[in-house]
Amino acid sequence: MTYLLALDQGTSSSRSIIFDRGGQIVAMAQEELPQIYPRPGWVEHDPMAIWRTQLATARAVLRKAGLQARQIHALGITNQRETTIVWDRRTGLPVHHALVWQDRRAEPACARLRADGKAGLIQARTGLVVDAYFSGVKLKWILDNVPGARARAEAGELAFGTVDSWLLWQLSGGADDATRARAVHATDVSNAARTMLFNVRSNEWDDELLALLDIPRNMMPAVLPSSARYGQVRPELLGAPVDIAGVAGDQQSALFGQACFDEGMAKNTYGTGCFMLMHTGERFELSRNGLLTTSAAQFDAQPRFALEGSVFVGGAVVQWLRDGLQAIESSAQVQALAESVPDAGGVMFVPAFTGLGAPYWDARARGTICGITRGTTSAHIARAALESIAFQSAALLEVMNRDARAGGGCGVRQLRVDGGACANDLLMQLQADLLGIEVVRPAIIETTALGVAYLAGLGSGLYAGTAELGAQWRAERTFRPEMAPARAAERMAEWEHAVRRATAA
Ligand code: G3P
Repeated sequence: MTYLLALDQGTSSSRSIIFDRGGQIVAMAQEELPQIYPRPGWVEHDPMAIWRTQLATARAVLRKAGLQARQIHALGITNQRETTIVWDRRTGLPVHHALVWQDRRAEPACARLRADGKAGLIQARTGLVVDAYFSGVKLKWILDNVPGARARAEAGELAFGTVDSWLLWQLSGGADDATRARAVHATDVSNAARTMLFNVRSNEWDDELLALLDIPRNMMPAVLPSSARYGQVRPELLGAPVDIAGVAGDQQSALFGQACFDEGMAKNTYGTGCFMLMHTGERFELSRNGLLTTSAAQFDAQPRFALEGSVFVGGAVVQWLRDGLQAIESSAQVQALAESVPDAGGVMFVPAFTGLGAPYWDARARGTICGITRGTTSAHIARAALESIAFQSAALLEVMNRDARAGGGCGVRQLRVDGGACANDLLMQLQADLLGIEVVRPAIIETTALGVAYLAGLGSGLYAGTAELGAQWRAERTFRPEMAPARAAERMAEWEHAVRRATAA
């Protein structure tokens, strides 16, 4: 048997999964990652905790599978994107906690970039809108605010990396005297694309953007395709050296794990938030509707792109039903409660708890529940909450289609789904009804880890090409639209009406 090990370092946990060559899960291990909230709007992780938990799960999954490291053909790393770490190349110590992608402290730097008229240049080079979400402005904050950091960076003492680079550096060499020289400082295109410092068309760091944010180029990792020979795990960590042959940001990895390799193929991950990505093939398509353009996982010499949009509050609305409203005791109860009524009874729930993202982009919008009557029960609200996830995703897909078609491409014909909430049949059926296309749930919903395992398999020569991987992808259930298109359009109009009330609030 041939095995692939995927390290999946996410925002709330570190996980490791072993897959067999056919993409079946052999074993899985997980550890929670503590969240640090020093001030409102600030979110940090301890980089040493990221490393410790990730290594612990890699060791645990080997034990669970009853395998030795030498039986692992190759290893891949997928990760929460944008989260920014700066460390000392000699001591291996971070100069500050990691600034997590959700952290908003870099907003003043973004406001200056916008006021200086740099947004157009940045979007044309990186595909991104200017936002505190991305690593470049977070890195600038560290250099500007950690005493001595800028001077040390200019002297070549510090390295910058997203979480993939940090793990890669630790796995391959770390700060030990004996292994430091072998430490690999690299990232892949799909992670580099989230820094706001990377020209996604020429596939290289952009000197003008680095200068704009005052970032010394010597801090930046080398950028490789997502499938490549990155280096080896130092043998003392897992008991034998293992080739590291795949690296990708988690959303692009999920797109790959869903076997969405071609233009027009799309996936939606239903997690705390939802991340929807549509492959646009080799076409770099700029959005006219506030979506991001990003590098898709790259497995050969050809850069490929995707359009991306995110829903800020997806599954988090169910957590709010549980913790805020206390309408359910566990998240799993939401489907039963929502199904206890035939519909939401005219209730519309816009969970704009932290504002609204694409396609609305209103930071001041706030959560709104409207249409409540004397007969409204918690079941109607639960149903409306669940429906809000489908409505928001449908609104995203609509603008994605519009952007893709405006650029001469094709629209989405099928949506592949993953993430925790895709297990909810009621939600998936409504999603198909609103979109008017098939919504397909795969047999393996751990597509984030699977994607990078596949990339590592390609990078180490285990698979011949993507056709072989596409043939391994299996649907578990297909949800076909059952609602008349006119009724679906009416429902979307009701949603847009409710959104207007949330944004006027
Ligand atoms: O862009 C942020 C995203 O990569 C985080 O994903 O799954 O760790 O919440 P997740």
